[in-house]
Amino acid sequence: MAKEPVRVLVTGAAGQIGYALVPMVARGIMLGADQPVILHMLDIPPAAEALNGVKMELVDAAFPLLKGVVATTDVVEACTGVSVAVMVGGFPRKEGMERKDVMSKNVSIYKAQASALEKYAAPNCKVLIVANPANTNALILKEFAPSIPEKNITCLTRLDHNRALGQISERLNVQVSDVKNVIIWGNHSSTQYPDVTHATVGDKPVPELVKDDAWLKGEFIATVQQRGAAIIKARKLSSALSAASSACDHIRDWVLGTPEGTWVSMGVYSDGSYNVPAGLIYSFPVTCSGGEWKIVQGLSIDEFSRAKLDATAAELTEEKALAYSCLS
Ligand code: NAD
Ligand code: LMR
Repeated sequence: MAKEPVRVLVTGAAGQIGYALVPMVARGIMLGADQPVILHMLDIPPAAEALNGVKMELVDAAFPLLKGVVATTDVVEACTGVSVAVMVGGFPRKEGMERKDVMSKNVSIYKAQASALEKYAAPNCKVLIVANPANTNALILKEFAPSIPEKNITCLTRLDHNRALGQISERLNVQVSDVKNVIIWGNHSSTQYPDVTHATVGDKPVPELVKDDAWLKGEFIATVQQRGAAIIKARKLSSALSAASSACDHIRDWVLGTPEGTWVSMGVYSDGSYNVPAGLIYSFPVTCSGGEWKIVQGLSIDEFSRAKLDATAAELTEEKALAYSCLS
């Protein structure tokens, strides 16, 4: 029997990530090739005409899984009945801007949209915040939508995770699908810690294969941390196809589960695991099963890693204070 369609909200759907993301959702890349979807697309009034153009293209593409499209500038209509919400709407960073510069513009959007999601989304709606500052926007959404369970509010660090897989695959000249269990700790920012201490290719540890500790602790980390800025420099626009694809990976694994023996990175509400302060949205290694994520426990953290985990937590604590000062 055919499955009931799932309503998927994409905010900022007239923007460049939105334009890359909605066809992926409509093709079943996010929720599976047998899962019909109804797309809810939200943008702001100045983008209404462009949003309608995206809707026209979705109709023209004749996606068999796409059972309906709601294109609207009304946040209540957009949020009503959605089971998955991918929050992309906001202002992207431009060349030369630090992520903190986009803070004041974006946190107020997430405060406002929190209550609409809380009131009108389907119970147990899974929320993924993509818009920057992603971790802190997610925290603001969580705090202003107290009835949404904290386990349902996450932010995107899967792009960073995938970037780390890509760098290791290039360095070792192996298939990216053979690289497993990298970790992104902390903030989706240049303080994030891409950690390969527990990563493997086949049954071999990545550090043993790379045989270059200086590269792993230096250039590799910096490349992943700065990849967003490098893309902005090259394209004069921030990453879009990789962000959209990683957002699909994040939701797919969350809903359908991670493969046995494999973890992924997700920005989730910290419960104090690994001595990360509780009450931050922080990227951890997680496994997913039955629609729930769980932080991987018991990984060893050496002194080098400890300092990196703490530095990115300190930045998130600072961002949280800054976000609240922007809202007051
Ligand atoms: P974009 O400017 O092309 O699109 C953003 C869209 O959001 C625009 O259409 C804009 O009109 C819309 N928008 C603005 N305010 C809105 C609101 N209140 N409600 C609904 N829509 C609204 O930007 P983009 O390149 O698509 O990037 C979107 C966001 O994603 C940015 O914040 C960017 O920094 C972030 N990003 C995050 C990651 C990640 O890995 N977490 C990666 C890439 C980009
Ligand atoms: C990215 O990582 O590509 C985005 O978050 C864009 C940015 O501002 O770095």
